Amino acid sequence: MCGIIGYIGKNVESVILDGLERLEYRGYDSAGLAVCRQGNIQSFKAVGEVSKLKRTVKFCDDFGIGIGHTRWATHGAISLENCHPHFSQSGDTALVHNGIIENFEDIKAQLSGMQYYGQTDSEVAAKLIGDKLSISSLRKMIKKIAGSFAFAAISKGGDSIYFAKQKSPLYIAKKDDGVMLASDPSCFAGFSNEYISLDDGEYGRVSISNLTIYDSNDKILQKQPQKLDFKFVDEEKKGYAHFMLKEIYQSRLTLENIIEKYSGSQMQEVLSQIKSLNFDRIFLIGCGTAYHAALIGQYYLRQAFCIDIYAAVASELQNECLPIDESSLCIFISQSGETADTLAALEYCREKGGKIVSITNTIYSTMAQKSDFCLPLCAGQEKAVASTKAYFAQCLILYIFTLFLQRKDYITSLKTFKNQIDYGDDFALGEIADFISKYQKVFFIGRGVDLITAKEASLKLKEITYIFSSAESSGELKHGVIALVDENLPVIVIATDEHLFKKTLNNAHEIKSRGGKLILFTTLNIDDDTAACFDKVIKANSAQKPLLPLQIIIQLQKLAYFTAVKLGNNPDKPRNLAKSVTVE
Ligand code: AGP
Ligand code: GLU
Repeated sequence: MCGIIGYIGKNVESVILDGLERLEYRGYDSAGLAVCRQGNIQSFKAVGEVSKLKRTVKFCDDFGIGIGHTRWATHGAISLENCHPHFSQSGDTALVHNGIIENFEDIKAQLSGMQYYGQTDSEVAAKLIGDKLSISSLRKMIKKIAGSFAFAAISKGGDSIYFAKQKSPLYIAKKDDGVMLASDPSCFAGFSNEYISLDDGEYGRVSISNLTIYDSNDKILQKQPQKLDFKFVDEEKKGYAHFMLKEIYQSRLTLENIIEKYSGSQMQEVLSQIKSLNFDRIFLIGCGTAYHAALIGQYYLRQAFCIDIYAAVASELQNECLPIDESSLCIFISQSGETADTLAALEYCREKGGKIVSITNTIYSTMAQKSDFCLPLCAGQEKAVASTKAYFAQCLILYIFTLFLQRKDYITSLKTFKNQIDYGDDFALGEIADFISKYQKVFFIGRGVDLITAKEASLKLKEITYIFSSAESSGELKHGVIALVDENLPVIVIATDEHLFKKTLNNAHEIKSRGGKLILFTTLNIDDDTAACFDKVIKANSAQKPLLPLQIIIQLQKLAYFTAVKLGNNPDKPRNLAKSVTVE
């Protein structure tokens, strides 16, 4: 899931480091760069974030050619040896790679006489491409590789960057006095307002004076640049301690952006076109938090329509034998629009003849480009790895979509909700964070739509606090899971549906009888006797019923945030994770 960048021009080191900072959402296990100047290659590497690499680099403002990488390790430990760029046998060629070389062990076995300094799959590509970098050595290399890749390579004394793309994103921007390649066009902001998007199987070389791109049949292609027609704003923390907290507090702003965008004629037209498609089944597909939004979408749509509606985890879609065909509407949900599992599921649905809609925050993403229709999230850049405002926006767009299909007014309802959003009491949430930070494990329970919120709250807590956490259906506890309940287990009960609360309350008593600690997060008005069953209670404002899951999740996101901070973790960059998961 790494990010790669290449640059030809002046101030190579600082341009590459700025780009790597923008790409850091793709991984921050290690970072490295190599620069070729006056015939020599110099490289710098650091384990950890780009800021650490920055401290090791010697800057030079002369003209040069460079490549850079920020890593999310797939093969080989997080170490200096496995940090990219990787080098050919003599060290004359340097290469960065985003992706996975699935047959790297076979290639290693076939390549005799090579000395490997690390364990990563990418090093094999550097050895395979060899000391004499050329289109022919690049072509030979990529034809031998199975898997996914975006490569950029430079060589001692060379004047070009060689590149290739298969399943991992790669874009090029070229001006008279500079060239940039990157995994994400956001790197081009401030450099060029035009870029070329490479397709799978394409490869080539670029220098200041020349750009040659070949297709997968080795024919030279003429590709037209496209406009960088999105505004890229490098978000700042603006006084918040972390991006995650700032982004939770941007929920209201996100809702305002959505109201503005979706009351306009352009989005009304897109929604009408989707509505007019001939479909009798809806699939909602995503990963992680986006999958939880798919479950919320399934809840909305099933309440409104009697057709088949099915939420699926993208990585399992192809294993589930689902009836996807020409009459299926397949809705893909993704903050980044680059999640490899979701993109693979999209390709699968396309092959089956499904109509493709994406709900994404990144309108220039691969997912948006591969869809028939795109419904933007309007959440602005989300930098923290834990998705908060994007989840909020994904659920809102699914709410809009459902009401639009029902010919109902959604704008009035969203405007009302804007004034009901409840960010909660930091002191009370902080106390609960203190409490649960002392435990090794936490359960979240709920029924109906509250079980979906339990799943999302549990994911949020585990990804940034590293506390083991599990979301369980309240009704299922007695069928096995209750065996785990004892005085060392805090259980967070989620209750926004008054019709389901009675039964959930019974389940809470069953936990209490066995010594479990109980914390209630609710939007319901509860009496003192009920409150007395719980060790702690958080009460959020009420709202219209379908929007209650969004009301309560904000405070559960904050609970995860406060607990992570209490434990001394950086909630923006949790261990082992990356913001954009571009490998399957
Ligand atoms: C969210 O907190 C997670 N970091 C993760 O589950 C994320 O939602 C998932 O990887 C999907 O990402 P996407 O929305 O960019 O496709
Ligand atoms: N497989 C390579 C590594 O582990 C690249 C990782 C990636 O792109 O996710 O270094």
